[in-house]
Amino acid sequence: MTDLSVLENGTGTPLVLLHAFPLSARMWQRQLTDLPGPDGSRARVIAPDLPGFGGTPPRTDPPALELLADDVAGLLDRLGVARAVVGGLSMGGYVAMQFARRHPHRLAGLLLADTKAGADPAPARANRERIAAAVLARDSVRLLVEERMEETLLAPGTPAALAAEVRELMATATPAGAAWAQRAMAARTEAFEVLAGLRVPAAVVVGAEDALAPPSEAEAMAQALPDVELTLIPLAGHLSALEAPEAFTVAVLGLLRRVERAGSGPA
Ligand code: MLT
Repeated sequence: MTDLSVLENGTGTPLVLLHAFPLSARMWQRQLTDLPGPDGSRARVIAPDLPGFGGTPPRTDPPALELLADDVAGLLDRLGVARAVVGGLSMGGYVAMQFARRHPHRLAGLLLADTKAGADPAPARANRERIAAAVLARDSVRLLVEERMEETLLAPGTPAALAAEVRELMATATPAGAAWAQRAMAARTEAFEVLAGLRVPAAVVVGAEDALAPPSEAEAMAQALPDVELTLIPLAGHLSALEAPEAFTVAVLGLLRRVERAGSGPA
């Protein structure tokens, strides 16, 4: 178990937000400061750094996203939180689905943003291994910036200041953490049956211009989920929570309200 470093703010139903690759909990800064809860006060946001990102050291055991889901459960134990709405963007979404698989009794609601429930095809797995091997060999994550990864994460026409913010976040990843995460993502299995078995409210959010986890992936997840609202955010790319925080907030607030109505909130 890894002790996750965490950013926290607000009150009310706990909402865990899991970050994308290769960013950190700081990508949720807008939600940490501005996300309203259903009662009008600031929502309780719990944003951990996954291992190897932000303030959390890398893991050294064989890469598997299941371990990250268990780390999130360990964080909830540490914070005294019995149940939470768990959400994630892209890699964070993969971890949120593993959390739903392994800790369903602790899940009050599920938020999946710009992510997908399918496993990787062979070429994607090979590309992940290429990246993992390269960042380890160079002992640097500069490759991610050199390959202009932020351009695939953001919609065309994104303001330069936001692209710079994303590049700066990418540069803080550790080589060991980036390699471990790439290998864990390559090893993941599909999660449609987990989604189909969920008995709590869910929300699926996707940027209309997301090239990495496009709207078709969001629609496939929404079709599998029994109680779901799907939000397509116009003009946003893969990092919809950063690119269109207001629209993202509307979707999350809708989920928190549904969780309260369903009585599936924290014990
Ligand atoms: C992410 O944004 O977390 C990554 O694009 C996820 C992935 O590589 O599948």
